Amino acid sequence: MSTETHAGAHGEAIGQTSGNGASASEERLTVTDSRTGATYELPITDGTVRAMDLRQIKVDESDFGLMAYDPAYTNTASCRSSITYIDGDAGILQHRGYSIEQLCEHSTYLEVAYLLIHDELPTEAQLQEWVHEITIHTFVHENVKDFMQGFRYDANPMGMLVASVGALSTFYPDANQIHDEGIRAIQIIRLLAKMPTLAAFAFRHNMGQPYVYPDNDLDYAGNFLGMMYKMTELKYEPDPRLERALDVLFILHADHEQNASTSAVRAVGSTQVDPYSAVAAGVAALYGPLHGGANEQALRMLRRIESVENIPGFLEGVKAGNERLMGFGHRVYKNYDPRARIIREHLDAVFEVRGKSPLLEIATELEKRALDDDYFTSRKLYPNVDFYSGLIYEALGLPVAMFPVMFAIGRTSGWIAQWLEMVKDSEQKIARPRQIYTGERDRDYVPVAQRG
Ligand code: CMC
Repeated sequence: MSTETHAGAHGEAIGQTSGNGASASEERLTVTDSRTGATYELPITDGTVRAMDLRQIKVDESDFGLMAYDPAYTNTASCRSSITYIDGDAGILQHRGYSIEQLCEHSTYLEVAYLLIHDELPTEAQLQEWVHEITIHTFVHENVKDFMQGFRYDANPMGMLVASVGALSTFYPDANQIHDEGIRAIQIIRLLAKMPTLAAFAFRHNMGQPYVYPDNDLDYAGNFLGMMYKMTELKYEPDPRLERALDVLFILHADHEQNASTSAVRAVGSTQVDPYSAVAAGVAALYGPLHGGANEQALRMLRRIESVENIPGFLEGVKAGNERLMGFGHRVYKNYDPRARIIREHLDAVFEVRGKSPLLEIATELEKRALDDDYFTSRKLYPNVDFYSGLIYEALGLPVAMFPVMFAIGRTSGWIAQWLEMVKDSEQKIARPRQIYTGERDRDYVPVAQRG
């Protein structure tokens, strides 16, 4: 058995194995391969080892080398990012260093979008120009409207959004020049500006109502409410409390580091496709009930529970593994999701305008009982952003099928910021995971007539 020591894959000289006194730059992981007895020292940077450094660990020269196996990427960092910081144990969420609590209290969705995309909060002049640019791009080409009108009368609005945002790439064919900064900038404005228009058109289609064009006198959230709810009035005037609650919801959904839809945007974007197609992949990923569809499932669950008396029986079913408590649990948060707390605080303002939902009592009691139950606390299952957001959407008169669409509008800023970061990151290449092949090998083809 060999006992030689191998260098890390980056060619650094191997120092003494780091002990307690080692400086960060000397941190290394010493690995001994029991198959060969060889010892390897892998550099540790930012609390990670590079998966490619494992490749040098081989049984012999013909061996492919060791890989990391990580289904669902539960312990793999796929990029370096300076956009969003989450401490899941402490329940902390920050964008570019600003806490979600401060942003929700003092900022607006478009300002947060600027922060995510341009790294810093804007000056007054920058903000004015940013808001102006987005406002004057809210209209979509008439053919987009015609295209959307081709959907079945009861088409799911999320399916319509996936298709229509992807279709925008055919209206802006130069969008595939992703390395041209100027061209990129205009697609970013268009995506932010047109997403609410597409979402509202999808809603009106689903309701069998005529589509309403944007009103550029209104703010981002107010304009969206107008496109959703304007009927015969000459001028739609949004209630400022609803407008603010919606704007806060958009802020709360703006970004959440490398979640499934953002990873989808990055993976699809890594092929150097245009940003509309990459964002369409994000919307598709968000459609799933374990991601953006969870708020819909959470509200359906509350409706199904029907009354407070039914909660114990429902929770028994969850604990027996018959179903999940939707709106609870998170891959990253092992504490109360800070977004759920902020939404809870805005519920009252919305109910003040729209009247209280009877489901609030069920949700409040369900949360209380779950947090008193060892099954949930021992697994660190707390309410996530989707537990209460459905109640606000319901109060706004939205059908459940629109809930993930609302999530998608807010998340568009995060998808764009992450896409942009990826495009500019020289370490990124086309995303292409490895696999462990478990199937048959080297079989001879048998003609169909001879197969038993
Ligand atoms: N209800 C009941 N049990 C649960 C739940 C839940 N909502 N979530 C997790 N568990 C249990 C799970 O059965 C497992 O138990 P055991 O250890 O006995 O096998 C344990 O908790 C760990 O769960 P997991 O499935 O390994 O956790 P995960 O990190 O893979 O899943 C999750 C995260 C969000 C998919 C999951 O908690 C879940 O399905 N929650 C309900 C859906 C939901 O609310 N999703 C919205 C997430 S927040 C919005 C977003 O970012 O998209």
